[in-house]
Amino acid sequence: MGTDADGRIAPLSAVPTDSTLLFRVAERDQCEERGSDNSEEVMTTCSDGGVDCKDEREALLVATETDDTDTATAVSCWLNFCQHFTHIKLDKGSGAAMRDDELICENHGAYFEADSGLCTYGPCEGATLAALETTVVDGDVYLADDDYEFVGRGPVETDGDLTSTSNVEF
Ligand code: FES
Repeated sequence: MGTDADGRIAPLSAVPTDSTLLFRVAERDQCEERGSDNSEEVMTTCSDGGVDCKDEREALLVATETDDTDTATAVSCWLNFCQHFTHIKLDKGSGAAMRDDELICENHGAYFEADSGLCTYGPCEGATLAALETTVVDGDVYLADDDYEFVGRGPVETDGDLTSTSNVEF
């Protein structure tokens, strides 16, 4: 199997250390169910861009450790929504805001630890972001989650952006 089919998201060097890297996932069960007669074809379709997959979701990588050249050496991975209002994205397409190793939801100012996902301040204090499993092999980050299949880098194109009324502009 090729590396992309194995869920290669990005090299560690592509993960920003002061923001987030946005990508798309699809629920693995849905792909498998849809492909009950020809799962390989459907899984390939999803991996090639998710054109038939109605339940794509956004996720983000965030650096949790860096080396002395400010390159990410470890990451965590979260679904791209706030725990206060779950239709609000942390990364609206240009990278999530960060401060002192915490992700910031700029809608109402919640702070989430980049490594644990715990909300340390804000209206959802004590809640935790929804995690996805990743692994790093030879400097590349792979999605290694039982529930989600990697689809591709960037935002969900067909997503009705419910955050467009946000008070944040990039
Ligand atoms: S929607 Fe994120 S803090 Fe309110």
